[in-house]
Amino acid sequence: MKPEANPTQLARQLLDWFERHARDLPWRRTTDPYAIWISEIMLQQTQVKTVIPYWERWMRALPDIGALARSDPQSVLKLWEGLGYYSRARNAHAAARMIVDLFKGEFPSTVDDLCRLPGVGRYTAGAVCSIAFNQPAAILDGNVARVLSRVYGIGGDLKSKIINERLWKHAAELVDCARQLPDRRLGGVSDCALQISENFTSKRSSFSAQTTADSGGNCSRLNQALMELGALICAPKTPACVECPLSQLCFARQSNRMADFPKSVARPVVTRRKFIAFLVLRNNKYLVQKRPKNVVNASLWEFPNVEMVSGAPVNPNLAARFLIIEKKPLLRIMHSITRYRIQLEVYRAELEQGVKPTGTWVSLTKLKELPFASAHRKVIEMLLLRSQRDLQQFSF
Ligand code: ADE
Repeated sequence: MKPEANPTQLARQLLDWFERHARDLPWRRTTDPYAIWISEIMLQQTQVKTVIPYWERWMRALPDIGALARSDPQSVLKLWEGLGYYSRARNAHAAARMIVDLFKGEFPSTVDDLCRLPGVGRYTAGAVCSIAFNQPAAILDGNVARVLSRVYGIGGDLKSKIINERLWKHAAELVDCARQLPDRRLGGVSDCALQISENFTSKRSSFSAQTTADSGGNCSRLNQALMELGALICAPKTPACVECPLSQLCFARQSNRMADFPKSVARPVVTRRKFIAFLVLRNNKYLVQKRPKNVVNASLWEFPNVEMVSGAPVNPNLAARFLIIEKKPLLRIMHSITRYRIQLEVYRAELEQGVKPTGTWVSLTKLKELPFASAHRKVIEMLLLRSQRDLQQFSF
């Protein structure tokens, strides 16, 4: 049997390291559960540097749960436009309405209540309860699972039920150890650490009743330290073990088997898909359509388009409605989403004679205001650039 790392030692090391190395991220300047929940939803599948401007814009537009519950679905999608995985935004909206109706507008503060909300699973509920309320709630996402798999030398498929439960148990043990430790911030700490401590405490006032008196934020910091270590140090391919605060305690590092943990699993096969979009302009307005409910990118807008397989349209009746008037595509866009590599070719087109348009005619100025699927957004950007160029030409 290999000796297992001591969780209290691990928690101590993590807390010390986080004091010195935590990034100053905007959602770390608040303990407002709504703001933290939004950051956690955005951070699922999306990198920190991408999320920052989205989160800041969202918080300015919809600063509290009431504002989100009252907003209309299209403006919520517009704030999310470009982040992808739009069901996150739709679920957040539905959850806000549920919080207003079911919880009288008060943000739920237990893992069980949070898990009743659409789009909130065990990870997000744990993240909100630990970060906003400093509860000893465990978290486990891909980054944390990788750290724990290496520290404890856990092989096998991390997504299998047995191994996943083992990882959750370790995560729970660590945050509980952190709760029992004295507040790490009260010792001699660096200026940077003090600055971050101030950020942590500056807006704590209304939630201070929910923080445990003896740990002063250790649960919040422990979980964020695990996330941070996974993101900055314990990288999937080339972990920076020399900078890692856990290297002395880490099974993978001590046995020099970093590449063995976690076990690599086969990636889904990449599938190429091709679409043709029709750019139809009449009276300075473009023909666009809103995607139906219950499909990918539901309720987002797009130009009429058809999927092509082996050079032929998947829906010939739809393609037959349009007449391509310029053989050369105006634009060719490459777009990746999950396992799909999508090529979108955009052609200038007209409606065939006698065909009634389905969709809406919208001016370029108004197109900017609608939430568009990412690839189609690029078409609008191109149109905007062209119209600016045209205006500049005429202004001489
Ligand atoms: N990834 C997931 N949650 C995060 C957080 N709160 N801070 C930084 N990265 C994260």
